[in-house]
Amino acid sequence: MNYFYLLFVFPAIVSVHVGFIRFTQPVPDFLSSLSLKAQYDYKMILENETIPISTKSAEFKKWATTYNVPTQYTQYETQQNSTKVQMEKNVTQLISQLSVANSQITKIRENGSLSIEEQREAVNEL
Ligand SMILES: *[C@@H]1O[C@H](CO)[C@@H](O)[C@H](O)[C@H]1NC(C)=O
Ligand SMILES: *[C@@H]1O[C@H](CO)[C@@H](O)[C@H](O)[C@H]1NC(C)=O
Ligand SMILES: *[C@@H]1O[C@H](CO)[C@@H](O)[C@H](O)[C@H]1NC(C)=O
Ligand SMILES: *[C@@H]1O[C@H](CO)[C@@H](O)[C@H](O)[C@H]1NC(C)=O
Repeated sequence: MNYFYLLFVFPAIVSVHVGFIRFTQPVPDFLSSLSLKAQYDYKMILENETIPISTKSAEFKKWATTYNVPTQYTQYETQQNSTKVQMEKNVTQLISQLSVANSQITKIRENGSLSIEEQREAVNEL
């Protein structure tokens, strides 16, 4: 079913600039008020694809302590976490809506008492 391609539209490609440094992922707002060194160190953790996720979180906390922004960082992480939970809920809901729509479309397609035109109209009305 080609409805599912919709799901892949979500992780939109992002590229964020903070001063001179270019990030390939979203970054906290307060990062722009920190030194270039702090921003660079943040980027090194953020874009390192070989650090396990759980270690990464600890690395960020260490980074936040080093640059004296532990409160701001925790706040950011809390916000990120709740956005993630919300997004997972949205995706779950979307999948269930697609599944319902899919079975309704199947029912219309298999309904032999409808003409092609009536089938098309019925699908469009969904
Ligand atoms: C990523 O992290 C690992 C483990 O800390 C480190 O060995 C590696 O050099 C880092 N890679 C980059 C590109 O910084
Ligand atoms: C965010 O979620 C991660 C993974 O579940 C967890 O380890 C971390 O403690 C959470 N952070 C906050 C600030 O709630
Ligand atoms: C989840 O869906 C709600 C309602 O459609 C929307 O307002 C919110 O921005 C979405 N959140 C995420 C993280 O996608
Ligand atoms: C087929 O479509 C007709 C006209 O809309 C409807 O009355 C009938 O209940 C449908 N049959 C099935 C099996 O859905």
